[in-house]
Amino acid sequence: MEITVRSIVRGGTIRSVGLLAPGVLSTIVRDTAGKIRLSARMIEKAPITLNINGQDYTVSVEPRRTLVDVIRDDCGQTGTHIGCEHGICGACTIIVEGEAVRSCLMFAIQADGKRIRTVEGLADGDKLHPLQTAFMAHHALQCGFCTPGFLMLAVNALETNPNITDEEILEVLSSNLCRCTGYQNIIKAVRSTAHEMRRAPAS
Ligand code: FES
Ligand code: FES
Repeated sequence: MEITVRSIVRGGTIRSVGLLAPGVLSTIVRDTAGKIRLSARMIEKAPITLNINGQDYTVSVEPRRTLVDVIRDDCGQTGTHIGCEHGICGACTIIVEGEAVRSCLMFAIQADGKRIRTVEGLADGDKLHPLQTAFMAHHALQCGFCTPGFLMLAVNALETNPNITDEEILEVLSSNLCRCTGYQNIIKAVRSTAHEMRRAPAS
């Protein structure tokens, strides 16, 4: 039997959804007594609702589908890119319930009912987000393939840590890959946005 369980370990709690075989959805949880439990049930498709940038998308998905695939193919939001599909490059980074995640490592059904932000939600109409403007000003992109992931990663860091230091910015950005820019201009763009936000905090 093929086992393709993917798990996320956060704060000592294992939360995992995976496939034991085509159509068999498994969940692994740590119960209140600290024991690891596995349950499995047959499922072909499940209706889920993703709230993407404030709009609800209700779709029917097979449990094996990744979140990035469903966002792009079923919801038509193609700004989020797919690179390695193995959690390495960060091109697929989005924000789920206030947390930057690699959407190639998450199953769509794990995001049912959750608030999701993608690069399409950064600009306010024609007005770009300050970080997008800074990317332009500092030439922080060339081919642009990695850019949506870097933007969402950095926006989340700037919003959750308004006093983020230059060193912390380096640490955050080190999780994503860019094959073109050499990183220096991305770092400059994020640092300048952080300094700007500190001077004029959002009201
Ligand atoms: S496509 Fe998700 S980390 Fe590379
Ligand atoms: S700008 Fe080309 S991969 Fe980053």
